[in-house]
Amino acid sequence: FTIELDKPTGKISPHMWGVFFEDINMGADGGIYAELVKNRSFEFDEPWMGWKKLDKSPEGTFLIVNDTKRKGNARSLHVHKPFPEKLGLQNEGFRGMGVKAGEHYSFSVNYKLSKPGLKMRVELVNEQDKTIGGGTLSLVDNAGWQTASVEFTAAETTAKAKLNVWIEGTGDAAFDMLSLFPKETWKNRPKGLRKDMVQILADMKPGFVRFPGGCIVEGRDLATRFQWKKTVGPIEERELIINRWNTEFKHRLTPDYFQTFGLGFYEYFLLSEDIGAEPVPILNCGMACQFNTGEVVPLDELDPYIQDALDLIEFANGAVETPWGKLRAEMGHPEPFHLKMLGVGNENWGPQYVERLDAFKKVLNDKHPEIAIIASSGTDPEGERFEFLDEKLRSMKIDIIDEHYYRPPSWFLSGAARYDDYDRKGAKIFAGEYASHTTRPNGPGRSTWEAALSEAAFLTGVERNADVVTMASYAPLFGHLDGWQWSPDLIWVDNLQVYGTPSYQVQKLYSLTKGTEIIPIKRNGANVIGQDSLYASTVYDEKSKQLVIKFVNYNSKPVQANFVLNSKKKLGTSATKITLANADLNVANSFEEPLNIQPKEEKVSYKGKRLTETFTPYSFTVIKIPVR
Ligand code: AHR
Repeated sequence: FTIELDKPTGKISPHMWGVFFEDINMGADGGIYAELVKNRSFEFDEPWMGWKKLDKSPEGTFLIVNDTKRKGNARSLHVHKPFPEKLGLQNEGFRGMGVKAGEHYSFSVNYKLSKPGLKMRVELVNEQDKTIGGGTLSLVDNAGWQTASVEFTAAETTAKAKLNVWIEGTGDAAFDMLSLFPKETWKNRPKGLRKDMVQILADMKPGFVRFPGGCIVEGRDLATRFQWKKTVGPIEERELIINRWNTEFKHRLTPDYFQTFGLGFYEYFLLSEDIGAEPVPILNCGMACQFNTGEVVPLDELDPYIQDALDLIEFANGAVETPWGKLRAEMGHPEPFHLKMLGVGNENWGPQYVERLDAFKKVLNDKHPEIAIIASSGTDPEGERFEFLDEKLRSMKIDIIDEHYYRPPSWFLSGAARYDDYDRKGAKIFAGEYASHTTRPNGPGRSTWEAALSEAAFLTGVERNADVVTMASYAPLFGHLDGWQWSPDLIWVDNLQVYGTPSYQVQKLYSLTKGTEIIPIKRNGANVIGQDSLYASTVYDEKSKQLVIKFVNYNSKPVQANFVLNSKKKLGTSATKITLANADLNVANSFEEPLNIQPKEEKVSYKGKRLTETFTPYSFTVIKIPVR
């Protein structure tokens, strides 16, 4: 293998490897958004979903009142209690509530008293109905809606706690936004995000966060498309919608899947900033999911959709004197979020997409030439849509084309040369959603080592072509063990734990060793794209002054490889070798065995410019060599 260190073929984008976030598989509600109460404001289609009454209360004691004057959150729970016996409600959480012994929790409720005299007591109970924490809130009469809260400590760790809400005394009141959060969240923001779930993303040092999806951008129909403006401002005014994944999909039924938007666009921007990633929002282009209704808005009614894009740019980057910049400042972030890219449409295709995209592009290019437009090239197992759109999008001079592929490991292995002949002059490519899918008898596959290693092989081709493929992200990102629709996923969680799949380990290694320049590596003058089941790419990182070799041995036997470095520069003698390997391609990580596939790091030493290294069976290896 010959490495031409002095002949880089292109620059690597600093935001090359990122994450694709979608509220699928309980990724947001019930996942990274740390709210523990399900249906906290009774706005789900069935207002009592997630709740049950603990007593036989007389008719008329509990009423759900629908007051359409209350913006975005019309329903509230009215309690009429002329008798002293206590009444109770129980919330089941998202497949239970994950609580940890010794950790602090904060319960809050919005209320309005029409006849004072009521008190509220909350308690967490475990699966045996034993109380494991709680507190009492006194409700003061102050006319109008107000908030009460109480903090307490949990005495036990359980993934399946429930919350009892007891109402004591006599009186009449309305309640809304009954909410329970851990005090310890990411950056300890009140009512914030699950710390462990953000941390595992931050550990990847992702270059970008693409949000909010995926198909949820499109919605099943246009009425349930994602509308970013409904996800910002006061949380209690954010109008929820049914989740597009609240459906039977790949054998899973999740009838209780709604988007409450506690995690809205402001929070997505903040998350991106927190973990040093570029924000990459994707907006609806006037078309609902073509796998569902495929509803489209008439072209002469597209303006509000385009206006949403303009207003989003103002929300992200505008001065605090502008209407949307002002809202951003009021929400706590006067500084701009430095938005640079915007996606128009997700997995949309056909001439109807091209027409709508064109309308967006004209206005965006005119008013915001600084914003790069990402266009979708759809998804299609046969690749025909890719070709149709590719041609159209290139002739429209789109900045970035978003390609999606969910294919078997064999496709990923044979696709390592996919980008070698892509047009260098035109649009850049965003490999926006990909995953290697092994098939299993009971539905889609897990992220096995076979899937992950085939991705590692494919990604050598992405890295070799990083001058044209400037962004890449695996999808979907999160799967909740008790509430998923789609698998494999990059990271699995339950109510208490989180682990990275083998694919996560591969993505993370690529991201942490991305480098700044593409360096050619050849075997007998050709790119290393699967000859003898070997794959390789090399980069140079000018910040750390390191040459990085990535090498996939997709053989059941060890392979010894000789590398010759052609360069005027010298190599340091001590290098770092990081290996992901397993002789069994069916191995996966799990909650029980989260580290079956994990990086093994060792120091290796070389002399001169000829290196010999042995690669274990079925392995992905990264070697970082200092360059002087
Ligand atoms: O990642 C899961 C889904 O796959 C996304 O929502 C969609 O864009 C694609 O079809």
